[in-house]
Amino acid sequence: MASLEILTYPDERLKTGCEPVETFNPELQSFIDHLIETCSGGPGAVGIAAPQVGVLQRICIVDATRARRPVDNHGHLVLINPEITAWDGFAVGREGCLSVPDYTGKVIRAEKIELKAQDRNGKPCTFTMSGFEARIAQHEVDHLDGILFLDRLVSRHADLKRRTPT
Ligand code: NI
Repeated sequence: MASLEILTYPDERLKTGCEPVETFNPELQSFIDHLIETCSGGPGAVGIAAPQVGVLQRICIVDATRARRPVDNHGHLVLINPEITAWDGFAVGREGCLSVPDYTGKVIRAEKIELKAQDRNGKPCTFTMSGFEARIAQHEVDHLDGILFLDRLVSRHADLKRRTPT
């Protein structure tokens, strides 16, 4: 299976709202598999959203199991038409993104969220997420609304940091 090409800022498609998925067919399954493969190929990538590969549909992957430090999580998740239904608390944390490869930035997110979505077969599911997993989910759902972490920085001057070459 091949990794898909990842669009990077300032590609216009990353700023576009995505359409809901209505048909759960074999084509969708194949796309999801490619998306997972693409996420796994990214260094330390803990999530990816369909618009990052130019597909403007409400599909994303959240995988807190790939966090460098162990965190509470629900395992590897494929979220179709995800919707955050409740937010609680605030936390500041540093985020990166496959579509903004050279920078990380400090972003305020809810500490805890309720999320409803469908799984890859269209089955409805709900999650209560907190901490790092909640942060990833908020970051990925933002992608589906055409929002990047760059849009959420409290201060571009103080909070954006160039990645040190590895
Ligand atoms: Ni991202």
